[in-house]
Amino acid sequence: METKTILLLSLTLLSHVSLSTSFTPTDNYLVNCGSNATTSFTPTDTRIFGAESTSQGLIFLSKGKSISLKNQNPSPDSPTLYNTARVFTTASSYKFSIKRNGTHLVRLHFSPFKVQGFDLSTAKFSVLVNGNLLLSDFSTKVVVLKEYVIRVDDSALEILFRPVGESSFGYVNAIEVFSAPEDFILDEGAKLVGANGIEVFKNLSSHVFETIHRINVGGSKLVPFNDTMWRTWIPDEDFLVFKSAAKRAFTTRVPNYQSGGASKEIAPENVYMTAQQLNKDINPIQPRFNITWNFPVGSGGVRHLVRLHFCDIVSPSLNMLYFNVYLNEYSADSDFDLSSLTFHVLSSPMYVDYIVDSNDLGVVRVSVGPSAIGGPLKINAILNGVEIMKMINPPGSRSGSKNRTVWIVVGSSIGGFAVLCLIIFVAAISCKCKKKKLKPGRVENEAWTPLRVNGELPAHAIAPQDLSDNTETETDGGDGSSSSEIRNSQVFSQLMNNDGR
Ligand SMILES: *[C@@H]1O[C@H](CO)[C@@H](O)[C@H](O)[C@H]1NC(C)=O
Ligand SMILES: *[C@@H]1O[C@H](CO)[C@@H](O)[C@H](O)[C@H]1NC(C)=O
Ligand SMILES: *[C@@H]1O[C@H](CO)[C@@H](O)[C@H](O)[C@H]1NC(C)=O
Ligand SMILES: *[C@@H]1O[C@H](CO)[C@@H](O)[C@H](O)[C@H]1NC(C)=O
Ligand SMILES: *[C@@H]1O[C@H](CO)[C@@H](O)[C@H](O)[C@H]1NC(C)=O
Repeated sequence: METKTILLLSLTLLSHVSLSTSFTPTDNYLVNCGSNATTSFTPTDTRIFGAESTSQGLIFLSKGKSISLKNQNPSPDSPTLYNTARVFTTASSYKFSIKRNGTHLVRLHFSPFKVQGFDLSTAKFSVLVNGNLLLSDFSTKVVVLKEYVIRVDDSALEILFRPVGESSFGYVNAIEVFSAPEDFILDEGAKLVGANGIEVFKNLSSHVFETIHRINVGGSKLVPFNDTMWRTWIPDEDFLVFKSAAKRAFTTRVPNYQSGGASKEIAPENVYMTAQQLNKDINPIQPRFNITWNFPVGSGGVRHLVRLHFCDIVSPSLNMLYFNVYLNEYSADSDFDLSSLTFHVLSSPMYVDYIVDSNDLGVVRVSVGPSAIGGPLKINAILNGVEIMKMINPPGSRSGSKNRTVWIVVGSSIGGFAVLCLIIFVAAISCKCKKKKLKPGRVENEAWTPLRVNGELPAHAIAPQDLSDNTETETDGGDGSSSSEIRNSQVFSQLMNNDGR
């Protein structure tokens, strides 16, 4: 009883705060490399990237053989952030002091230009973060944003740039390092899907991930401005194998985020407010087929984290939707029942983490299709969002660094607001711990669902919502072929090129 009251109190506090503020990371470094000036990224992503040398509390203890470059002829639509770069002619590193252990996001921006005898598009280098080889023999002629998810249990995060070969050099235009929320990568609950069926995959957070695809299924492109974690999400149409199998659905109602389910930091409202569902119009008599997406990931046999986002915005009432999920044609979930997985709240965001190896074609194939449960009225299947992250295996990829220069970047000060967030965060954690002690309601599902809320939900939350009039038919006829030629770096660079415009 008492536990419940405390829980409710902290939840109320939490939801109040999440309404009025966005996420504030404990560690938060945004560096405008090679520049003395601070700048915002894009007109809508107004986060300030600090000057390397002086302001923003960034202090470099030493500098080695590195040069700062400024593009003399920047293209007018290139962000100011990309008009400078730091160039490393020997192995050199940035070091960021870390205040909070746990999962961090690292983003590296590369935008090659030509100046003072340096053609950045000819640079070739490797990048290691805390000893993990993340980029090897990297070179690019187009703008690339690389994003990594890495757990840090250390007082520092070191990013080492190591030129490949004697005459080569490395460079970077901008760096983001920030802490993710505590529950961003959960160690329990991931399903390893493969030829051996489904196995539990533990210790997820101890792996390093590289973001390959981030897709707002059935929706439009979302830019950092639309996302509390400053991510970019792109539409799914280009990945659909048969475009006409899918029909877009959207709602104008904001999703019912529940504690223990997905949060806005897991994915923003806009991801859950759109989906693709079965387009039963193409075969009303026999509407049992799959919607399939092919996501090119580069090479075959590589392990990936596939995070699928779901939110039932298509059903007029609860218990109307049962579907199957397949990854690379292996069954990943059968008779998936969003109503019970979200504790009987419609439009309630949740996600599932799957681990799967890419197939021989270097593709991760995601399918959803109707389950055999239920009559003709219950035939449907949905998907709201997809994230695909390559797992980078630390064993073997660790390698020492020699002849390097270390720059220490000392932490920026925490404002009063961040302290408030921290207090609330601690309250949330203690509230979580209390919840863990409660007995789970559906034991057989416990390992698989991110929703760990227990107890009754307020009556108003279960009111049926008629969302059916908000659905829209995909007018594009579709040609039935997939565009699987898109390369990873291109996908991300496209994001960057169009960003905020
Ligand atoms: C940054 O400032 C220092 C000292 O004021 C100056 O020597 C250097 O050229 C400046 N660098 C750039 C890229 O403007
Ligand atoms: C972070 O983890 C390391 C290693 O487990 C530990 O020594 C250190 O005290 C932790 N730091 C914090 C702030 O919890
Ligand atoms: C899980 O990760 C920890 C480091 O976070 C590591 O020490 C441990 O060996 C890992 N366990 C397994 C089974 O991989
Ligand atoms: C995303 O943000 C942009 C501003 O950059 C805004 O114009 C757009 O409407 C937002 N999209 C959604 C779906 O909210
Ligand atoms: C959906 O795809 C899976 C995996 O390829 C397949 O086993 C299943 O038969 C398909 N379902 C339908 C209704 O086509």
